[in-house]
Amino acid sequence: MQEKDLLQLFEKMTLEDKIFEMLQLSPVFYSENAEETGPYQHLGISPDDVYRTGSVLGIYEGAERVLDIRREHYEKHPLHIPIMMMGDIIHGYGTAMPIPLAMGCSFDPELVRECYHNIAVESTASGVDVTFTPMVDLVRDARWGRVMESTGEDPYLNSEMCKAMVMGLQGENGLDKPDAMCACVKHFAAYGGAEAGREYNTVDVSERNLRQYYLPAYKAGVDADVGMIMTSFNTVAGVPSTVNKWLLRDLLRGEWGFDGVTISDWGSSTGVITHGVAADYKEAARLNIEAGLDIEMCTPCYIRELKNRVDCGEVDIELVNEAALRVLRLKNKLGLFENPMRHTSVEREKEVLRCDKHMDDAYKMVCASSVLLKNNGVLPISEKSGKVAFIGPYVYTDRFCSTWSGKASTFTNKTFFECADGKGDYLFAKGSHRLGIEQEREAVCMKYEIDDSDREQLLKDAIEVAKQADTVVMMIGELYEQSGEARSHTRIKIPHCQLELLREVRKVCSKVAVVLFNGRPLDLREVDSLSDAILEVWLPGSMGAPAIYDMVTGAVEPTGRLSMTFPYCVAQSPIYYSQLNTDHPYNGNPNNRFSSRYLDCPNEPLFAFGQGMGYTSFEYSDLTVEPILKRGGKITASVKVKNTGERRGTETVQLYIRDFVASISRPLKELKGFKKVTLDAGQEQTVSFDIDEEMLKYWNIDMEYVADAGRFAVYICHDSTERQYVEFKLQEE
Ligand code: BGC
Repeated sequence: MQEKDLLQLFEKMTLEDKIFEMLQLSPVFYSENAEETGPYQHLGISPDDVYRTGSVLGIYEGAERVLDIRREHYEKHPLHIPIMMMGDIIHGYGTAMPIPLAMGCSFDPELVRECYHNIAVESTASGVDVTFTPMVDLVRDARWGRVMESTGEDPYLNSEMCKAMVMGLQGENGLDKPDAMCACVKHFAAYGGAEAGREYNTVDVSERNLRQYYLPAYKAGVDADVGMIMTSFNTVAGVPSTVNKWLLRDLLRGEWGFDGVTISDWGSSTGVITHGVAADYKEAARLNIEAGLDIEMCTPCYIRELKNRVDCGEVDIELVNEAALRVLRLKNKLGLFENPMRHTSVEREKEVLRCDKHMDDAYKMVCASSVLLKNNGVLPISEKSGKVAFIGPYVYTDRFCSTWSGKASTFTNKTFFECADGKGDYLFAKGSHRLGIEQEREAVCMKYEIDDSDREQLLKDAIEVAKQADTVVMMIGELYEQSGEARSHTRIKIPHCQLELLREVRKVCSKVAVVLFNGRPLDLREVDSLSDAILEVWLPGSMGAPAIYDMVTGAVEPTGRLSMTFPYCVAQSPIYYSQLNTDHPYNGNPNNRFSSRYLDCPNEPLFAFGQGMGYTSFEYSDLTVEPILKRGGKITASVKVKNTGERRGTETVQLYIRDFVASISRPLKELKGFKKVTLDAGQEQTVSFDIDEEMLKYWNIDMEYVADAGRFAVYICHDSTERQYVEFKLQEE
């Protein structure tokens, strides 16, 4: 529809019509068992009003059902304005990719983009127009359950991933195309900074740290033309994000030029009452609209109070006009006015959901995102491994998805057992359930039924199997439900019953490799001490089992590198590689009393950002950088990388920079680039990076985004623990 036609339609809309566009309904209004009165009363609407509402979220029943909803809505809407369908498709709709934290570990924006393109193709066929993805919250604390939805702890990596996800979802040829859906960058802002990793907790960061570390990934989404931004539950400097004028109007729209739609998180607009900054729905409605919130997700402030606020002159009608118009413009961009069914199609759904291409990409992503954390030569298994047993609850499950993966969990995936059985002289045992009775408290909260009755027998059988094996591959980890929203933990270890299994197996078998399934960095001290290899596969999605079988047997190599630090123990949290030096840095001398260190545990994490290996080895040499960078100019830094092992392999070459002296203290190291190179055995390649002034900028003492002249260190290396560097100077003209 032309803009002028849209404006004509807008002219015809009453204030109420506009406010209905700004309301998003929960799926309960469309479920067969919808309560007659409760939800209607909550919002103060009637069943007929459902057909006037702008959008709904969370309907994953597939094309047929969505077509019915769209049709009925379109026919019954007084002005025939089509409904917009939204949902949380965070790592796949029919084909589940690995979780986003895993995808961060791929260091492969191109593949990430392709995977999100596939997600758009599948989701649109089933009738989803907007997805609440990507979550780009910077995460430094593994206690927070939602780290699994983010791509990790680094602003640069997160920005690259955010761009890739937005571009993959929104396509290249316009939002109205069948391979495109609107992305929604969330949760604006700094939700990942929750104090002590406790869900929904207070966030308090300085404006400098906000701009330097937390905001870049959201900004990358805006620069990639994301259509929607979701506000977060938390406060920023005491002001809840959803009513934070500085954040939403001055920064997001003013400074960054965002002209898309903003949406509250579920309950964040009424949450301002709980936060204690509004007395009631009336005040919350005014604060929300003044801050620039366009759509209210599932809560009643706007629908119940906005009209009254306008009628009594407390809220300027222009604020409602601009918000409602933005919603309509998004519908128009999505092509809904021309085609109210959009690309929802039962035939297309059959064709694209879990099609070969999507499953192949999902397989590639499992290999690209799995991180081999350690390997004392037991992986990959081969003839030298002798008799191999696969033991653990993940041998027999096909549940490799996390939350919010559309319809993916309704499909049957191959179990590891099905992939491996008959392919070798293997033994198998389950060994334990995924959760035991020690974790009953959290199981209740997750509505997960623990059946511990056969625990002893399972363990006994597994020990018998392990005794017969020369090598055991343990397939263990968190239950998928243990990470995600409202899944904060102070114990970040694998479940007790599975640790018990590992201990017992280790007693009878001298070679043990662990394949680890989880949604967050864990305290792996004990797993580490009981194993010879650890392959981190996260929650790998639909193609988990076949890809893991191929990685474990060496047909393919895991090439992921950690996008989030694995602490030594939970007490180190929050922990991240890009720390400041402090004025009392620890120099490794245990007698050094007055230094920034723990007396009872190392400062270093167990596995650092960027770490990970494959099945070959690489050597770095001849690190060089041009010595002088002039403002506005460019220099090159390079290193030689050689595959010193016996097979072809892929290395993720990482570029870090340190600013030695600035007007504020700067991190010891910051990631500024990465390249994945694949080399044959014995092959050597020079890997180069350009460095320019832009890469050196930071928010200085006067809150200007600048680069200071002076000395910088360059590291081109395997991971963030590297100590060897070369120097260059940034010089004035
Ligand atoms: C989550 C959001 C999500 C929304 C809708 C909220 O609880 O915080 O990330 O998009 O629900 O499902």
